[in-house]
Amino acid sequence: TERSFVAIKPDGVERKLTGEIIKRIEQKGFKMVAMKFIKPSQELAEEHYGEHKEKPFYKGLVEFITSGPVVAMVWEGKDVIATIRKMVGVTDPLKSDPGTIRGDFGISIGRNIIHASDKLESAKKEISLWFSQDELVEYTPTLDKWIYEN
Ligand code: GTP
Ligand code: MG
Repeated sequence: TERSFVAIKPDGVERKLTGEIIKRIEQKGFKMVAMKFIKPSQELAEEHYGEHKEKPFYKGLVEFITSGPVVAMVWEGKDVIATIRKMVGVTDPLKSDPGTIRGDFGISIGRNIIHASDKLESAKKEISLWFSQDELVEYTPTLDKWIYEN
């Protein structure tokens, strides 16, 4: 099954949105595979946002993501990557629909609360960057028969 890397950014943690965000993803039906609470190192942040190295906002972005604690998670389920992106909203919170995490809780593009993998390739890369293999927990949720048709 597909997996996505999700991180509640320092603004989301400071604003006490951790429980609300985890609740939304849990209630959707996805399965949590890993979670940790860490202040990301400079190297981790630079690698994570490496695709934006040449962008004018890169330095500020890395500074921000290393400025405080982050809740890093891996979630699993059918089409989990695209579905969580939909639940998160678009990059700019002011353009995000109500009902999405950014649309409900954010205002600034540089304080948009949450990160979620945008495609399979980035999910794989991000999961291995943030987690070691033994931190990914294997289990079979008994509720899956009520969430999935087959
Ligand atoms: P992530 O899930 O964090 O990767 O967001 P995203 O995929 O919606 O956006 P993208 O990967 O393009 O950009 C990464 C992060 O850089 C965004 O979440 C924003 O916080 C920040 N960012 C992107 N574009 C801008 C911008 O034009 N200005 C500023 N200040 N920050 C930006
Ligand atoms: Mg992105």
